[in-house]
Amino acid sequence: MPDLWPTNLGPVICVVGARPNFMKMAPILQAFAAHQPAIPTLLLHTGQHYDRDMNDKLFEDLRLPHPDINLEVGSGSHAVQTAEVMRRFEPVLDEKKPSCVLVVGDVNSTLACTLVAVKKGIPVVHVEAGLRSYDRTMPEEINRVLTDQVADLLYTTERSATANLAREGIAPERVRFVGNVMIDSLLNNREFARPPADSVRAANCDPSLIAGQEGYGVVTMHRPSNVDHADVLASLLGVLREISEAIPLVFALHPRTKSNIDRFELSHLINTPRMVMLPPQGYLEMLGLMAGARIVLTDSGGLQEETTALGVPCLTMRENTERPITVEQGTNTMVGRDVAAIRHHANETLAGRGKSGRVPELWDGHTAERIAADLSFWLLARHLDSGH
Ligand code: UD1
Repeated sequence: MPDLWPTNLGPVICVVGARPNFMKMAPILQAFAAHQPAIPTLLLHTGQHYDRDMNDKLFEDLRLPHPDINLEVGSGSHAVQTAEVMRRFEPVLDEKKPSCVLVVGDVNSTLACTLVAVKKGIPVVHVEAGLRSYDRTMPEEINRVLTDQVADLLYTTERSATANLAREGIAPERVRFVGNVMIDSLLNNREFARPPADSVRAANCDPSLIAGQEGYGVVTMHRPSNVDHADVLASLLGVLREISEAIPLVFALHPRTKSNIDRFELSHLINTPRMVMLPPQGYLEMLGLMAGARIVLTDSGGLQEETTALGVPCLTMRENTERPITVEQGTNTMVGRDVAAIRHHANETLAGRGKSGRVPELWDGHTAERIAADLSFWLLARHLDSGH
């Protein structure tokens, strides 16, 4: 390894767009800066998420640097959002001449930036590759499948993801199983997690509700399949309200869910003192809330992994998961949208029969360091091969 990064080898453009990207990118940037030689980076935000709650707060909590470039695309239909990112990203590549583009996860920004880079012959590195729900109605599944097909280097979080990529004909030399950067963030920040009572108080609710013997549960729900149809949303809120009679529930409301509750006139279902409605939470608030919970009910991808790492039982309100290790080894149980299954598993968990699980292989807090070591070696070798 040289002491310094070659001056004629460009920076790594690190792309973030939406909330679940931020906790994946923070440890990567830290590891790239700490690596010998330091790997030069440019942090590019597409602007897919832009609210203080969905964006700035997480940047602060995760101590992410201010983005070097912000494309400010904002919201829109999938086509408009993806197209806007692509249109605005292309001139950035022309100007910055990066050595590669690094994308994380499966949001629209991930796919949009990947497509632009590969078509310009710039290598793409995908962190959290190979996850598959095998449900093509999920926009994230489309984003994952397409990104993985064209990315040059693919880092996986669990062995099943490596196997999925092999089945899709992706050459094994492009794939590396390195572990989970989300868990790097979780372990780096565990000691800074905010007390759950503070988050409840900050939303002008009475923290004594969650301080009792019975503890509390945490809910997040934002997938279009769960919140965009009035009947589905009503039945899920109905069973959550029932569960709240047994244990108080703290609900972190995504803007999409909040607006649909209003639009479908369902606020009577959440209008009970046993359900505390909070705005989207910061990273440290969410960590504190999850770590102290007796049960988590969610449709998020990231929470399935974080609860497994924390050893907190998680009921996932989806028909499938792209993160099967959280079910096989962790604390996750798939309950779908089936009200009877949700009720049954919640009762079991609250009776002390929830899953305890174990922490999966390489979810050890050192994944970003492994990526830094591997990627720098790969980039420098390519650079030498190209005759520099
Ligand atoms: C996106 C990701 C999803 C991820 C989720 C986490 C895709 C396809 N989906 O979904 O994988 O789990 O982020 O939050 O990329 N909005 C705001 N403020 C914001 C951002 C959005 O109010 O800062 C509202 C807008 O009304 C917008 C809606 O939320 O139309 C949806 O935002 P969008 O980024 O399109 O998708 P998410 O549902 O957040």
